[in-house]
Amino acid sequence: MNSAEKIVVIATGNAHKVEEFNRLAADAGLKDLRFISAKECVPEGMPKVVEDAGTFEGNARLKALALRKIVPADYFVMADDSGLCVDFLDGAPGVETAYYAGPDATHAENRAKLLEALKGVPAAKRGAYFYCLLLLISPESREIIFDGSCHGFISENERDSGFGFGYDPVFVPAGYDKTFAELSGDIKDSLSHRGKAFAELTAYFRKRS
Ligand code: IMP
Repeated sequence: MNSAEKIVVIATGNAHKVEEFNRLAADAGLKDLRFISAKECVPEGMPKVVEDAGTFEGNARLKALALRKIVPADYFVMADDSGLCVDFLDGAPGVETAYYAGPDATHAENRAKLLEALKGVPAAKRGAYFYCLLLLISPESREIIFDGSCHGFISENERDSGFGFGYDPVFVPAGYDKTFAELSGDIKDSLSHRGKAFAELTAYFRKRS
């Protein structure tokens, strides 16, 4: 690590997430910021955490604190938590988004359950938003939270052109008539909950450097 470089260890076992954060940092021109996975930092990787806090913030804190204990003190740690909140379902699936159709559910099963739950619900009542929360713990042990949301509605059927993951094929962002899975990655990054939370994080690191 050179003296200006800041290392952020991400509380995830998902290499795809680490890649995405590094891409967003490079796009933002943050050359001295480097995201690494827990596995790249400590041989045991991300500890198992039961995400039972009941809120996005609480779950992110559980993951970040578990990681803080095992990584070098001069590194930042960061945990993210995200999900989809549907108005007609009183905010569900929310913190259960990844497991909506069961503990081992696939993305396809989760989407099918959601479309079934909204069967026959008129367009005006299909409002929903994606939410993303990033919880950072600095080397000085300060906790900082960044978040972002993206409002839109749930389509009646899946629409996919090969982009996206998770609930992308059933989520249409406000102002568009295409689902996230039909829009390009660049458009999604500019609108998405994760993109907005990341912009706040970027602003924080710009001020720090
Ligand atoms: P986690 O924050 O990685 O636990 O993600 C929670 C769940 O939310 C994921 O399994 C996805 O199904 C869903 N999700 C979060 N962000 C997105 C997105 O940008 N598109 C589609 N699904 C998402």
